[in-house]
Amino acid sequence: MALDLTAEHKMLLALALKAQQNAHAPYSNFKVGAAIIDENAQLHASCNVENAAYPLGQCAEAGAISAMIASGSKQIKQILITSPNDEFCPPCGGCRQKIAEFASADTQVHMATQKGEIKTLKIADLLPLTFSLP
Ligand code: THU
Repeated sequence: MALDLTAEHKMLLALALKAQQNAHAPYSNFKVGAAIIDENAQLHASCNVENAAYPLGQCAEAGAISAMIASGSKQIKQILITSPNDEFCPPCGGCRQKIAEFASADTQVHMATQKGEIKTLKIADLLPLTFSLP
């Protein structure tokens, strides 16, 4: 099947795949990459970073969000997550909340496989009834 990827999809996919190669995942052997386009059209990418003290491990999405915030941007327009296989890797529950903190209702969450197949959902559909403070 021919894939119809936009230029933004291609950039996000390339960046996430590159970061994924550097993932530190010796405990799960499950390498993940993530890339963001923010409100200033800047790109940010990261990978999961595990730790021998298991709960200290950090998801790929969290690293990409940290990079975005450190750069001065505040809004995730699109985020793409690359799985290490041919299945989609939906963001974990904690990462959905982390994405929602910097998202708008139409923020797109792309899930990509190693084959480059992409499935897109809105954060509002992945995390309905998002917790936020008034
Ligand atoms: N992981 C992510 O990086 N993002 C997700 O949304 C799901 C899970 C990582 C955490 C851990 O290093 C590995 O995948 C296995 O759970």
